[in-house]
Amino acid sequence: MDPASLVLNLDANGPRYAQIARALIALIQRGVLAPGRRAPSTRTLAEGLGCSRNVVLLAYEQLLLEGYLVSRRRAGTFVPPNLPSAPVERSPARVPDPTVGVRARLSPAGRRLVEAAAVARRVTRRQQGCDIDFMYGLAEPDDRLIGRLRRALARPLQDRSFSYGPPAGDDALRQQIARRLQAARGISRPADHVVLTSGAQQALDISARLLLGTGDRVAVEDPGYEAATAAFLAAGAAILPVRVDRDGLDPARLPDGRRAVRLVYVTPSHQFPTGAIMPVARRYALLGWARRHRAYVFEDDYDGEFRYEGHTTPALAALDVERVIYCGTFAKSLFPAVRLGYLVLPSALVEAAAHIKWVTDRGCSRLVERAVADLLQTGDYDRHVRRMQRRYRERRDALVDALKQRFGPDIEIAGASTGLHLVVWLPALATRRVDALIAGCRARGVAVYSMAPYATRALPRSGLLLGYGLVNVGDIPRGVGALFDAYQETTRPGGPRCR
Ligand SMILES: Cc1ncc(COP(=O)(O)O)c(C=O)c1O
Repeated sequence: MDPASLVLNLDANGPRYAQIARALIALIQRGVLAPGRRAPSTRTLAEGLGCSRNVVLLAYEQLLLEGYLVSRRRAGTFVPPNLPSAPVERSPARVPDPTVGVRARLSPAGRRLVEAAAVARRVTRRQQGCDIDFMYGLAEPDDRLIGRLRRALARPLQDRSFSYGPPAGDDALRQQIARRLQAARGISRPADHVVLTSGAQQALDISARLLLGTGDRVAVEDPGYEAATAAFLAAGAAILPVRVDRDGLDPARLPDGRRAVRLVYVTPSHQFPTGAIMPVARRYALLGWARRHRAYVFEDDYDGEFRYEGHTTPALAALDVERVIYCGTFAKSLFPAVRLGYLVLPSALVEAAAHIKWVTDRGCSRLVERAVADLLQTGDYDRHVRRMQRRYRERRDALVDALKQRFGPDIEIAGASTGLHLVVWLPALATRRVDALIAGCRARGVAVYSMAPYATRALPRSGLLLGYGLVNVGDIPRGVGALFDAYQETTRPGGPRCR
C-alpha cells in the first residue's frame, strides 16, 4: 500500500499530535503499517490532515521515542523490522477455547493478556530434537538436593500443615530471605517487607497491578526480558524500550518532562540478555532520576547467586529502599518448577502487595514454602548453591575456552561473569544470516538461540544467547565445534541462506 494513501482515524481526544500518534500506533498494531515499512512523509500526512507539519513532527518524535518508528539517515522513517506485535483492541476478539472447541469471547483485559503472552512466548521457543541444547532459562537440581527436598517436603505433611498460610508467605522463609539479602546484597529490610510470590513472573504481575493503569508508561531494557514486557502489556501499560549498551540501561536515555514514566524495569546485576553489569555511577543516576520523577524501579535480580569473577555491586534496593521494588527467584538457584520468588517492597507498597496476593491466589503453596524454608534453615540450600556454582563455573569455563579456541578474535563474548548464560557476538556474520547459522547448528544436532528476538529493533550485529544450565560439560566442545562448522559454512561466500 502506498503510505501516502493511509487513512488515519483521529479520535478527537486531547492534543492533535497525540491523536495522530495514537492513530499511527493503531495502524502499526493492525499490521497496516507492517514491520519494515516506510512511514508516510510528515509533509504528506500534514497535507492530508490539513494541519501544520510541526504537529505531525511532534507525533513522529513521540513514536520514535517509544520505539514504534526508527529513522534511517537519508532513507526516511520506518516501522522497525522486528517490532513485536502489541496487544490490539480488536472487537470482538475471539481466541480458541480448547475445552469446548468453540471460540470464547474474552474481556478486553483477557484479550490483552492472551496477546501479551503470545508476544512473549514467540521469543523463546525450544528447538526440539537436538542432542546438545544451549537453551537459556533451564536449571536442574542434582540428586543430593532431590533427596534433601524429598525429606523437607515430608515434614509439613507430617505436621499436617494443610490450612492456608499468611498470603505474604511463610514467616520463617521470609526471615531467612531477609537475612540473606542483608548479608549477600546489602539490602536491609525487615522480613515483613518480603512478599513471597509464584516466581519472578508473579512478582512482575503484582507490581504491574499495584502501579500501572492503562496507558501508563513503563521503561524496559532493549534488548530485554520479554516476560516482563508481557506482564506490563497485560496491565495495559505503554512500553518504552530503552536501548542498553555495555553498561546496561543508561538513565540519561530516560525521558524527562511531564509524561515521564511510572516504572523502570532493570536487571542491573546481569542485564538480560546482554549480560552487562550496571556500574555504580549509573545506579545512583537511575535512582536520582526515579526520585525526581516519582517513578519506581523494578530490580530483577534473577541470577545473582552464581557469580564467577569480580565482586558484587550493591543492589539498587540497598541504595534506595523507597523507590526500588526488588525481586528475587529460586528458579535458577533451585529450578524453575519450584515456582517460588519474592518481592522486597518499599513501605508504602507492602500491605497492598499482600492484599493482591490474597485476592489472586491466597498465597503460594504452603508445602513448598515450608520445604524451601527448611532447606535454607538446615544449610542444605547453601551447600547446593555452592555445588552448583562449581558445576556451572566448570561449564562456563569449558564454553568460553571452546569458543575462544575455535573462533579466536572473530567473536566477542559478553556477560560470562555471572548467571547461567553468556552472549556471543559475531561481528563478521551479517544479521540476516543468523537464522541460517542456527539452522546449520540444528542440522548438526545442536540448538543455539539468536539475540534478535529480545530486541524491539534490529540489532547492529549478530549475536547468540547460549545458556549452560542443562548442557553436560563433556558435550560443550562438540557443541561449539558444530557451531563453528555451521558458522564457517554460513559465512562462506555463497553459503546457505535461511528460507
Ligand atoms: C530476567 C529474568 N527474570 C526472571 C526470571 C525467572 O522467572 P521465574 O521466577 O518467574 O521463573 C528469568 C528466567 O529465565 C529471567 O531471565
